[in-house]
Amino acid sequence: MAKEFDKYSYYKESVQNPEGDVDFYLKTYKQIRKKKPVSLREDFCGTFAISCAWVKLDKSFEAYAIDLDKEPLEYGKKNYLPQLKAEEQSRLHVYNKNVLDKKLPSTDICVAVNFSYYLFKKRNELLKYFKNAYEHVNKDGIFIIDCFGGGQCQAAIEEETIHKDFSYYWDQVNFNPITNEAEFYIHFKLKGQKKMEKLFYYDWRMWTIPELREILIEAGFKKTTVYWEGTNSKGEGNGEFTPTEKGEECDSWIAYVVAEK
Ligand SMILES: C[S@@+](CC[C@H](N)C(=O)[O-])C[C@H]1O[C@@H](n2cnc3c(N)ncnc32)[C@H](O)[C@@H]1O
Repeated sequence: MAKEFDKYSYYKESVQNPEGDVDFYLKTYKQIRKKKPVSLREDFCGTFAISCAWVKLDKSFEAYAIDLDKEPLEYGKKNYLPQLKAEEQSRLHVYNKNVLDKKLPSTDICVAVNFSYYLFKKRNELLKYFKNAYEHVNKDGIFIIDCFGGGQCQAAIEEETIHKDFSYYWDQVNFNPITNEAEFYIHFKLKGQKKMEKLFYYDWRMWTIPELREILIEAGFKKTTVYWEGTNSKGEGNGEFTPTEKGEECDSWIAYVVAEK
C-alpha cells in the first residue's frame, strides 16, 4: 500500500520556522520587560512545533500548547515530541482545548500565529478571544499575534514556491472587499507526481492592523506595538522585524502586533 502523504511535514518545511519564531518572542519580551520570560502559551498550536522549539531554548522554559483538533496534536506527539530530550518533554504541556476556554494556563508570553485567529470573523468574537488572552497573560506578560496583507492579498491568486523536491502552493481563492473575507488552500506537488490539492483550507477575515490594535486595547491591553519586516537587496522580506509606526506599501507583507498587559 502506498505510504500516506505526510502533509504536516511539507507544511512545516514550507511555512514554519519555529526556531526563528521563538528567538523573536524571547528577544521581544526581554526588550520590553528587561528580564527573561519563563512560560510560553502557543494558541492554535496545531502540531506544536513552536512549543518544542521554546523548551529547547532554556532549561527553565515551560511551554503550553493549545488546540481544538486532536489530529495535529497527535501528529506532534508522534513526530516532534520524541525528538526532544525527556527533560525537555517534561516542560511541554499539550492541551486539547478551545482557546476560548476560561481555564487555560497563564503565561509570560502568549502567541497566536500563522494568522489562526483570522477564523474569528465577527468583531465581538475576536474581542472575546483577545479578552481571554488578556486574562491569561501574567502580570508583565505580552501577547503576540501576526497578520498579513497588501494589495496582492485582495485578489484571487495562486503562488507557487519551488523547493528542492516539491512545490508549495498558497492559493487564495477569493476576496470579498465588503466583508474583507477570503478563502485559501494549500496544495503540494512532489517532483514527478500529480499535484495534491486542498490539503489545508482556511476561511478567514483579513483583519487590518488598526482594527487589531483597537480591539487589543478594548480587551484590556495597555499598549500595542507593530513590528514590521525589513527588506533585503531584492526587495523581499528579510525576516527581521522591528518596531515602527510607518509601514511600506508592499504587494504583500507580514507583521507582528505585540500587546503589553
Ligand atoms: C492555521 S492552523 C495553525 C496551526 C499552527 N499554529 C501552525 O502554524 O502549524 C489553525 C489551528 O487552529 C486550531 N483551532 C481552530 N479553532 C480553535 C479554537 N477555538 N481553539 C483552539 N484551537 C483552534 C485548528 O485545529 C488548527 O490546528
